[in-house]
Amino acid sequence: MNSTRKPLIAGNWKMYKGGLAGVELASALKKVARDVPNVDMVIAPPFTVLAACAHEVEGSSIAIAAQNFYPKNEGAFTGEVSAPMLRDSGCTWVLVGHSERRQYFGETDASVAERTRVAIAAGLEPIVCVGETLAERETGQTIAVVNRQVSAFVNLLTHHAVIAYEPVWAIGTGKTAGPNEAEEVHMAIRAQLERRGLGMTTRILYGGSVKADNAAALLACPNVDGALVGGASLEASTFGAIARAAQGLVSSR
Ligand code: PGA
Repeated sequence: MNSTRKPLIAGNWKMYKGGLAGVELASALKKVARDVPNVDMVIAPPFTVLAACAHEVEGSSIAIAAQNFYPKNEGAFTGEVSAPMLRDSGCTWVLVGHSERRQYFGETDASVAERTRVAIAAGLEPIVCVGETLAERETGQTIAVVNRQVSAFVNLLTHHAVIAYEPVWAIGTGKTAGPNEAEEVHMAIRAQLERRGLGMTTRILYGGSVKADNAAALLACPNVDGALVGGASLEASTFGAIARAAQGLVSSR
């Protein structure tokens, strides 16, 4: 972490906690948020509980993200949800281009760029996700792949936007990039941001099996500004421990 950027800990609930359990988790996280005044906390519940969670965390520092949206403002698109609808539901953030969307739902660099553009136009801050597959890492293409993914949208970003580096092989697998591996990729992303004048302000999160016991080491890297957490965001105790690890690093400066 770096003293000019406030750490951001985001929880991606994926397709879990879509009902009362989600509202209960949001409620429990309000207590955590009070303990971490120097950390931004964002949660990304499923669509079905976005508005309920937004209502639940009102008055706390927790912000709400959606996990996806359809990049048209309205229209005859049965089953889809627009960026303005997310705003109306209390979202201020949205995940864009998560690897599961790229892998299972046909998202490409072009569709990720389109969603980034539409999200920002609608007043949502995107957390745009990038990351290489295991095959790409093993063939030495990590930096080239991440640079290509970032270059598809970097010219659309504002100072508030966030990039999440999530190596696909580390997501949900219990394997994490070591701090040095993460820092190397974060530095490459930072260099691209610097060329756009966004290097100092843009937060770059690490994601992929972040847990309470590895969070501090990853967050200590100078170019790691927070974490995007999947599995460990589904319990207030484990997500809280990661947020507290970030707060501990800020406090020890
Ligand atoms: P994980 O998921 O923490 O369960 O690996 C991270 C993510 O997919 O954002």
